[in-house]
Amino acid sequence: MTTDVIPNEYRGLDAGQMRGRIREHKERLGAKLCILGHYYQRDEVIDFSDFQGDSFKLAEYGASAKAEHIVFCGVRFMAEASAILAASGQRVYLPAFDAGCPLADMAEIDQARAAWDALSRVGVADDFLPVVYMNSSAAIKAFCGDRGGTVCTSSSAGRAFDWVAAQKKRVFFMPDRNLGINTALAKGFNANEIAVWDPFSPNPGVAKEARAVVWKGHCHVHTFFTTAQVERMRAKYPGCMVVVHPESDPEVVAASDASGSTSFLKKYAEDAPAGSTVVIGTEINFVQRLARQNPDKKIVPLARSLCPNMFKTSMADLLWVLDELGGVNEIRVAGDVASGAKTALDRMLGL
Ligand code: 13P
Ligand code: SF4
Repeated sequence: MTTDVIPNEYRGLDAGQMRGRIREHKERLGAKLCILGHYYQRDEVIDFSDFQGDSFKLAEYGASAKAEHIVFCGVRFMAEASAILAASGQRVYLPAFDAGCPLADMAEIDQARAAWDALSRVGVADDFLPVVYMNSSAAIKAFCGDRGGTVCTSSSAGRAFDWVAAQKKRVFFMPDRNLGINTALAKGFNANEIAVWDPFSPNPGVAKEARAVVWKGHCHVHTFFTTAQVERMRAKYPGCMVVVHPESDPEVVAASDASGSTSFLKKYAEDAPAGSTVVIGTEINFVQRLARQNPDKKIVPLARSLCPNMFKTSMADLLWVLDELGGVNEIRVAGDVASGAKTALDRMLGL
């Protein structure tokens, strides 16, 4: 019999034994199995991934994978997107079923509907297209797809803004305030052309003149970074380069040399000249891995900030899902939600 809670005996297993058993599963299943790993995952998990990437790349890999079983080592919104994009007959699993994302939870479907109703009341709803960050529920993605909008990730947010402008519309961005503001500023918007939408205190008046409206949600892993940390690092490592993920506060992005998705940060570290120092503001597991992979330069975390949800997936969770493959932790998205969300995700992949 299988349950949806990992049995206790898995927690005490020897690491070497677990590695051996996971390898056996991979050999036995061959092309029927595809393990995807987000860069923020622990090394003990990412070591088994067939593909590693940022959330955009993993969505692409998932959409083109031929495997019958896709095990997504990441957080729920990523596995949900993969399940929505999967072909019929493909099944997607999330090894740590409670690995959510607090940022994604900051936009609830009823709040999104209420926001659109409020915009309608002041006569501007049709001026806007929703752009929804990948870090959102399937219901929010469907809301967006049904209203002509697109999903984006941190690596495609700029393209999504261009896509909206090409349709002579304005951007309503959910749910990450910082990515919305940072993208708008990078696109040349003035700060006073960007309005913040507080879902707990909706005020449609702010949307009347704004070129972009951004939802008041945030990622605590990235808002942990401060300009004081940037200054300290610059003083400690004169000549260093500072790069951060765009979920960081706009002041931190402004104080840095560059910002971009996890793929961007990885490439930045790899391309930096030997002997240089690169200070990186994003999830700590990922930064520490980059430091190990690039021993010819000094890669330093801006500060230690761990994503507790990404950290939830351990080797034991991966082994358990493979032992019980098909029986536990499958991600399913209801048909009506899945079709609207797929429309928005397909738009993202086509941007
Ligand atoms: P990426 O889109 O850069 O992979 O980031 C995902 C994420 O969750 C960042 O917090
Ligand atoms: Fe969510 Fe932030 Fe963790 Fe990314 S780092 S999964 S946005 S909580």
